[in-house]
Amino acid sequence: MDFDRINAPTVPSAWLDLDALDHNIKLVNNKTKSINLRLATKSIRSLDVLNYIKERSPHYIGVMSYAADESLYLLQNGFSNIICAYPTLDIDNVSKTFVYTKQGSTMVWMVDRPEHVKALNQIAAIYDEEVKICIDINMSMPIPKLYFGTKRSSLMNKKDLKKLLKFIKQCPHVKVTALMGYEAQIAGLPEHLPGKTLLAPAIRMLKKHSQKQVSQRRGSLVNWLNNQGFNLSIVNGGGSGSMDFTSSQPEITEITVGSAYYKPAYFDYMDTMHEFKPAAGFVLPVTRQPEKGVITCQGGGFIASGANGIDKDPVIHYPDGLSILTDEGFGEVQTPFAIHSSLLKNGTAAKIGDAIWCRHAKAGELCEHFNELSCYRQTNKDSSDKNVRTMTTYRGEGKCFH
Ligand SMILES: Cc1ncc(COP(=O)(O)O)c(C=O)c1O
Repeated sequence: MDFDRINAPTVPSAWLDLDALDHNIKLVNNKTKSINLRLATKSIRSLDVLNYIKERSPHYIGVMSYAADESLYLLQNGFSNIICAYPTLDIDNVSKTFVYTKQGSTMVWMVDRPEHVKALNQIAAIYDEEVKICIDINMSMPIPKLYFGTKRSSLMNKKDLKKLLKFIKQCPHVKVTALMGYEAQIAGLPEHLPGKTLLAPAIRMLKKHSQKQVSQRRGSLVNWLNNQGFNLSIVNGGGSGSMDFTSSQPEITEITVGSAYYKPAYFDYMDTMHEFKPAAGFVLPVTRQPEKGVITCQGGGFIASGANGIDKDPVIHYPDGLSILTDEGFGEVQTPFAIHSSLLKNGTAAKIGDAIWCRHAKAGELCEHFNELSCYRQTNKDSSDKNVRTMTTYRGEGKCFH
């Protein structure tokens, strides 16, 4: 990579490598070409980038949002096919989306409990609307003494589903149109986490076992629902780490993909992601040198969400030969790095005014720290992109969704 393409910034800033992004877009398109593609907005968090990917993805069908107010914002900005991935009780914002659904946009809300259905039915009744819902099936694999998956949906089997459907039948303002079975433990769990590499064979084995279970359980629930006359128009599954698997499943109509586009550091630890290129990250300027062998940058605190661990730390992308100091980690508003002695000897160590390139562990969270992404190409072949200097993030638009 030619790191001189963006002049060294004087303040922390975020970068987006358009060549790497294009490479990742093509790979996603190739891997998922047999089904429709939905973009996970949580892992992009920028309208500009969502539009950029959409324009280059022939099987694009819509987006998967993560909150009701975000869904409204997406509708206001021209996105017309949205599934909100997580159940909401924010009926105020749900009601504000009706103006768009009346004009033909598709807005689908996630449910897995009667409380979710009840809230949607009540607000839809007030406005005399019909709300589309998607049933979220828990695709985790509970085995003795181990729960391999995520704790989200309460629906595991046909019995759970039947109970919820009985409730839904009493709600005339909601309509089941979709089913989601997100196999998080296959799509989002890396095999070789730093410091835990001994677990890799066990995780691989569990993933293989889980694939069989997901195929069987998701397939049979979809068949059963269709036989009951539900006529599901959408069966959504998968994520960045499961593109090959999910695309090959006959019951699936579409896959959701987000993180693969930026390829953040967490996905470096996943077997299925090696072909993808790091496309986004941040640069910190070196502003201090407290002692020989240590530099300190302006900016810090870029730890990713989830269970604590070094897999949630950013990684240093460029230059080589720097490491994080364990006492301070990735800092708060300053971040110190140790310089490897070989660089001190040959005089190539980073100095004040230089830039340290890093990558966040998670995809969309990078955008919560910056108003814009500075875009660059290693090659300026594509003249149509000459005007692309920056892309604005949700944060840059003054938006903060949870
Ligand atoms: C419901 C759902 N689908 C799909 C994804 C996949 O997103 P990504 O491709 O960013 O891993 C996620 C991520 O957490 C999710 O929650």
